[in-house]
Amino acid sequence: MNTTPILRCENLSKVFHDGKNKVEVLKGIDFVAQAGETIAILGRSGSGKSTFLHLLGGLDKPSAGDVFLGEQNLQTLNEKDRCRLRNKSFGFVYQFHHLLPEFSALENVAIPLLLGDMKIDQAQERAAEILTTVGLQARLKHRLAELSGGERQRVAIARALVTEPQYLLADEPTGNLDNHTAGEVFNLLQELNEKLHTTLIIVTHDKTLAEKMQRMLVMEEGKLD
Ligand SMILES: Nc1ncnc2c1ncn2[C@@H]1O[C@H](COP(=O)(O)OP(=O)(O)OP(=O)(O)O)[C@@H](O)[C@H]1O
Ligand SMILES: [Mg+2]
Repeated sequence: MNTTPILRCENLSKVFHDGKNKVEVLKGIDFVAQAGETIAILGRSGSGKSTFLHLLGGLDKPSAGDVFLGEQNLQTLNEKDRCRLRNKSFGFVYQFHHLLPEFSALENVAIPLLLGDMKIDQAQERAAEILTTVGLQARLKHRLAELSGGERQRVAIARALVTEPQYLLADEPTGNLDNHTAGEVFNLLQELNEKLHTTLIIVTHDKTLAEKMQRMLVMEEGKLD
């Protein structure tokens, strides 16, 4: 039985105050992700895609509106509980990957498990498994600084997936990759969706890849349609 709670938002709005300027980025978005669904979000640069993903995953606070995971309103949680829920339910692939350059691929991927209080041996074993899944079994001990762009991207995906989150929120996971590698990364994400029923919400500029998702939405003028 799939017990993934539904992720949804109501009237989600975000305004940035930049000195005197007020930038209305999201203007009352209603959105529902069904469990196990694969969704692509397209839209021009600056349209608010990253902002939307951050709000959906509880990384930032909306100016108005609410995000719900099942019955839980993310806004009514305190910071500690929101962090815990985030760690448990969401995997993030950031637009700029935030991996630690001086740490090995294995260490980077093991970190979320260690934060979740797993023992180090078990965390490393699990990290090695998921890195093997993304085709990096021969790069476990390489420092991030020694990996190619595509390899780093795959480490970032492994790190997001190592906790087996119900939701993967990925911000241009194939940005900066050549077409072939981008296709492989997408295939990998689809496989994970099929095997683990991970719900995928992926921001991408690549229409061909976006068309492989079940649903395609466009961010435009602060609305998602
Ligand atoms: N912290 C912030 N303070 C002020 N303005 C911000 C902030 N974050 C984002 N913005 C503004 O909000 C708008 C949307 O930004 P966002 O990063 O969500 O766009 P995006 O659709 O992800 O673009 P890209 O495709 O280039 O990544 C931009 O105009 C940006 O300048
Ligand atoms: Mg962005």
